[in-house]
Amino acid sequence: TYVVTDACIRCKYMDCVEVCPVDCFYEGENMLVINPSECIDCGVCEPECPAEAILPDTESGLEQWMELNAKYSAEWPNLTSKRDAPEDADEHKGEDGKFEKYFS
Ligand code: SF4
Ligand code: F3S
Repeated sequence: TYVVTDACIRCKYMDCVEVCPVDCFYEGENMLVINPSECIDCGVCEPECPAEAILPDTESGLEQWMELNAKYSAEWPNLTSKRDAPEDADEHKGEDGKFEKYFS
């Protein structure tokens, strides 16, 4: 499965949503997550994300984000169509410590 990491926070470009063939993205206030039991591991979302926020769970060190994706995809609403990114999305691209600063 693929995992959305903290690089998505306050960027929310949503290009990922547009390409996912199984609509397995879920939306929180500041970021999206992937439902790991619905993702078919096709990988098409990974290169589409301008913030490079999406990674395959085969990479090491992603435990925190794997847990977060599983937990919140069960709570947040499903998102099936792309909207505009926040106006200040580019200002938050590549910013450090976004989870601590903004996640709610
Ligand atoms: Fe959707 Fe494929 Fe990305 Fe999984 S890997 S979230 S199925 S686009
Ligand atoms: Fe987030 Fe990247 Fe999608 S910033 S909303 S994971 S395109």
